[in-house]
Amino acid sequence: MKFSLQANDPLSKARAGTVTTAHGEIQTPIFMPVGTAGTVKAVHQRELKDDIDAKIILGNTYHLYLRPGLDTLEKAGGLHKFIGWDRPILTDSGGYQVYSLSKVRKIKEEGVTFYSHIDGSKHLFTPEYAMDIQRTIGADIIMAFDECTPYPCDYTYAAQSIKMTHRWLKRCCERFDTTEPKYGFDQTLFPIVQGSVYKDLRIKSAEFIASMGREGNAIGGLSVGEPAEEMYAMTEVVCDILPSEKPRYLMGVGTPINILENIALGVDMFDCVMPTRNARNGMLFTRNGIINIRNKKWENDFSPLDAESDLYADQVTSKAYLRHLVHSKEMLGAQIATLHNLHFYLWLVKQAREKIISGEFYEWKNKMVKILGNKL
Ligand code: GUN
Repeated sequence: MKFSLQANDPLSKARAGTVTTAHGEIQTPIFMPVGTAGTVKAVHQRELKDDIDAKIILGNTYHLYLRPGLDTLEKAGGLHKFIGWDRPILTDSGGYQVYSLSKVRKIKEEGVTFYSHIDGSKHLFTPEYAMDIQRTIGADIIMAFDECTPYPCDYTYAAQSIKMTHRWLKRCCERFDTTEPKYGFDQTLFPIVQGSVYKDLRIKSAEFIASMGREGNAIGGLSVGEPAEEMYAMTEVVCDILPSEKPRYLMGVGTPINILENIALGVDMFDCVMPTRNARNGMLFTRNGIINIRNKKWENDFSPLDAESDLYADQVTSKAYLRHLVHSKEMLGAQIATLHNLHFYLWLVKQAREKIISGEFYEWKNKMVKILGNKL
């Protein structure tokens, strides 16, 4: 993997860069649609490419390991071949999903024991196994196995937790560096900064993560219920420590406003289920603010979702029709709404990049932050 910087915004810490992987280039800042179980829910791979030009998607170790399982993924020749996607993929390590999704789990030095949310079966993820699984899935960028602390989290727990996450990281690196990719292309491992909402712990963690010298770095444990201002305060201290010549990935964030504010603090990569999950409930993100398409207000509004959008579905779908589809729980409603939201998120980060390059990012960001919070 390579990373190069094309521009720095003069009035903020925003940057425009390019990540180069074995499956192609990603221009940053970037948003990565979440494709948990080998599918970005309700969107076909052809639409991801041709309609919204997604440059990279995410997969989840936890889900893919449970289903379809490692045997099938290996026989398929890895996740790219299994799902028919030849652009970059990033996989999360399971270090978040085991806490948020699985039933009873025990966290020990060795790793995390959990019970499958699908059939109740018992499993153990260790840092080494999380690397082996991600070698088998075959993503371009893989994540370290960490503990994502909840919010709120007391100081003593958070302080102990980063120590364990750092010890786990050493084990991840050791395993990753002594194993080979399975499908003939390079993979890279990103470590994850933790430390809850405590500045001194975040500084300690960021310094340790930076000292590992990997090709890119991530920030975890945020957007877990803390106020946005606390999130930004943490991102700011961490970004100032993580090396500027490597990409910075903020995990699981966020709203369009969160994304713009964090770009301004020096974050390059984002993922979040918000545009996909909320689409299925009728929440649409637009250039003028947020719409709940289920509202009666749209019942007889036959204007297109967005006449000026270059997305076909935005031009030909009326608000009234999408409202009807979502109300009727029609699958097409989820498809159109998801495509619309992902198109918007990708438009937003592309605009951010253009504004960084033209030196207008800061002013544009402040203007957009005012507009994007509107409820229409
Ligand atoms: N996704 C969102 N936050 C996190 C985190 O802290 N760790 C991991 N592994 N994934 C995440």
